Amino acid sequence: MERRKFIKFLGLTAFAVSTTGFKLIEENDMISTNCATSSDMLGPFFRKNAPKRNDLTYKGNKSEIPLKVVGQVFGNDCTTPLSNIELDVWHCDHRRRYDMKSDKFRCRGKLFTNENGEYWFKTFVPPPYQGRPKHIHYLIHESARHQELITQLYFRGDNKIKKKNWMKYPWDEKRILDIYKNKDKMPEVRLDLYLKLKENLK
Ligand SMILES: [Fe+2]
Repeated sequence: MERRKFIKFLGLTAFAVSTTGFKLIEENDMISTNCATSSDMLGPFFRKNAPKRNDLTYKGNKSEIPLKVVGQVFGNDCTTPLSNIELDVWHCDHRRRYDMKSDKFRCRGKLFTNENGEYWFKTFVPPPYQGRPKHIHYLIHESARHQELITQLYFRGDNKIKKKNWMKYPWDEKRILDIYKNKDKMPEVRLDLYLKLKENLK
């Protein structure tokens, strides 16, 4: 549904539930939303200038669970896919270490969403480290209209995920993902991301 129709519709009601199941809220004649993906800490292991690539696998990795990560990036109306959004993803290697120095930028990649807002990358399920659950870091860079988002992906069934520890808010549950087999029989998870509009555009 295009934006103008949404505003008209919402003029009749205080809120509506979008097709994605998130609540849309009308405030001061503008639509805000609670679909925005919750943030998580950046951590000390982010590196700039990761190579643009969808395949983060490499020789010598001894992790046993291959993984494909897919998803779409949406705007603040919860439904419009955003193309050409820049994302950094990174995680620790099978030795529970982050590559902070090598020019291989192991377990790191830079991605851009396609015309349908889609992104994907191939990697492996990282091990837990320092008491933390298994996780993959995301930095979604700011664009002309949307704010930067720093967040993390987790895996359902990981017994290191504790309430009030890594998962504090209801939205955080949506970042704990089920691993399923895709059509190529490869383990896959899906994390769709919902960005917030920049403050000056609200
Ligand atoms: Fe980490």
